[in-house]
Amino acid sequence: MIRLFVALDFPADVRERLAGLAGGVPGARWTEAGNLHLTLRFIGEVPDDTAHDIDAALSEIAAPGFDLVLDGVGMYGSARNARVLWAGVERSEALSHLQSKVESALVRCGLPPEERKFSPHVTLARLKDAPKDRLGRFLEDRGLFRAGPMRIDHFTLYRSHLGKGGAVYEALREYGLS
Ligand code: 2AM
Repeated sequence: MIRLFVALDFPADVRERLAGLAGGVPGARWTEAGNLHLTLRFIGEVPDDTAHDIDAALSEIAAPGFDLVLDGVGMYGSARNARVLWAGVERSEALSHLQSKVESALVRCGLPPEERKFSPHVTLARLKDAPKDRLGRFLEDRGLFRAGPMRIDHFTLYRSHLGKGGAVYEALREYGLS
């Protein structure tokens, strides 16, 4: 079995800017710069054969490249039980288009359809018992964050290796956009 997801990665300068947002929130586990990405579709554990089918299906996707802008920061969970800090993405039809192509390719491979609405974000940190006032300050101080526009000319199939020190992501294959 192999644990997979499909994501966009970012140029090094954008990753550095995202990583530069880290700090000031006790109890936050910040994503390392090299691991920052935007998930298009989490796949989960699949048999090796299915992984080959997925690779073939993703290779057949024809979609245009596009420019993407990262915009603002936010939080998942409630103030009392905050779970994730993220960077947001400026609305992009081309991104939604690519995401729906990926989704339908995966469903054609026999995966169950994703029930959750696509909510594009870049996870900056996972939180545990983060103090409310510090979260508030983080969101206020970083609210004007913007990066890009950057050219998105490929998407990537990643393998996730779960380990004690957190997940390690391995890029298995890149698929070009036209
Ligand atoms: P997240 O950043 O919002 O947690 C690899 O785990 C990627 O897949 C992460 O970016 C994660 O999104 C996303 N993902 C979506 N659903 C997931 C799930 N059920 N389990 C683990 N990761 C998931």
